[in-house]
Amino acid sequence: MATEGPATRRVQVAEHPRLLKLKEMFNSKFGSIPKFYVRAPGRVNIIGEHIDYCGYSVLPMAVEQDMLIAVEPVKTHTLQLANTNPLYPDFSTNANNIQIDKTKPLWHNYFLCGFKGIQEHFGLSNLAGMNCLVDGNIPPSSGLSSSSALVCCAGLVTLTVLGMNLSKVELAEICAKSERYIGTEGGGMDQSISFLAEEGTAKLIEFSPLRATDVKLPSGAVFVIANSCVEMNKAATSHFNIRVMECRLAAKLLAKYKSLQWDKVLRLEEVQAKLGVSLEEMLLVTEDALHSEPYSPEEICTCLGISLEEFRTQILSPNTQDVLIFKLYQRAKHVFSEAARVLQFKKICEEAPDNMVQLLGELMNQSHTSCRDMYECSCPELDQLVDICRKFGAQGSRLTGAGWGGCTVSIVPADKLPSFLANVHESYYQRSGRSLAPEKQSLFATKPGGGALVFLEA
Ligand code: GLA
Repeated sequence: MATEGPATRRVQVAEHPRLLKLKEMFNSKFGSIPKFYVRAPGRVNIIGEHIDYCGYSVLPMAVEQDMLIAVEPVKTHTLQLANTNPLYPDFSTNANNIQIDKTKPLWHNYFLCGFKGIQEHFGLSNLAGMNCLVDGNIPPSSGLSSSSALVCCAGLVTLTVLGMNLSKVELAEICAKSERYIGTEGGGMDQSISFLAEEGTAKLIEFSPLRATDVKLPSGAVFVIANSCVEMNKAATSHFNIRVMECRLAAKLLAKYKSLQWDKVLRLEEVQAKLGVSLEEMLLVTEDALHSEPYSPEEICTCLGISLEEFRTQILSPNTQDVLIFKLYQRAKHVFSEAARVLQFKKICEEAPDNMVQLLGELMNQSHTSCRDMYECSCPELDQLVDICRKFGAQGSRLTGAGWGGCTVSIVPADKLPSFLANVHESYYQRSGRSLAPEKQSLFATKPGGGALVFLEA
């Protein structure tokens, strides 16, 4: 239900090795016992890449890997954060003076985003602090949304400490907004699935208003995640925000071309809604209105009748103001065609024709091609990995998440899974000596997992 908040579960901590280990580490770090625990999962996006921030529906599922935080509220105003992974140093700050440094995407800043989002939502200015120990097992910078899982987990931790209630939808919206304090202009997919996921089903996530609908995946196939081992942190470069800005500019130019009020338009979906036409027609409008040569800032200013100063300060994000070329035609083509593929994917899952695995695989392959050629968010290793996965039995394979590195997701007929895993392992990882360190979780089959939860010790 749309109004329901995340569930609370009573557990025997001694029966859950990860919780038990966290409890013991918490005790040796802070000298006390956690009052409660929160988990929020990462996700794999099956199809619908780089379209959530354009207003279009996406089709992710939660993975079982997650962020887990042990929490103890304290009477002082100090927020103390520690991580079980020694790579992430301790951090402490005053709970009522949260500063998020956009120039460095340090781990604790993601916690602070979730904390600040809840603090601001309720307009609170005199918060007590807490001790938190974070334990994550989502491979970082791999397109499986470890950062959003931390933001969501921190948001739910803060809500629980305050004893307040919010629906999963409200939490997802608050965390999507507050993650932008880190400087990336993401859509709401990652936070929505982290809260709204349910075991056993993928979800179609629609925006404005946010809602999630079950999508039953084919029983005869397995989804396999493979890590290219190329790390990509979307907050550390401007690639991601440049794409968001290109889509914003394409939306404005298409709106102008169709004599709509372009200055208020931010997303490609708004243009479609205002015109009341299909995605196929939007592809035709794109052909008429935009050219495939890159646009310069000057050309965009002339089209829109604005100054370069207005262009930079009123339309672009701070880290994209010096960009000199914008590929508007290619980005819009990707977005409209990918949005259509998401709807086709859902329809095939509902109708379940005999050749559904093949049909779903074809859509995933088309998605990868469009990400690679039109959206330019792939990289040679991802392309190679996708080819290897297809060669060894995947019906479809594509990059997942923001791209430029990170993971692929493949749809593999269930009976081919063992040989698929063995062959991909040998071809991509063993031969090239790529890291198979356990924390990279390079190659694994996954199932739709559940959403964020609070655990209380029984
Ligand atoms: C990141 C963002 C999401 C989405 C994907 C690309 O994960 O956080 O909102 O835009 O990239 O599909």
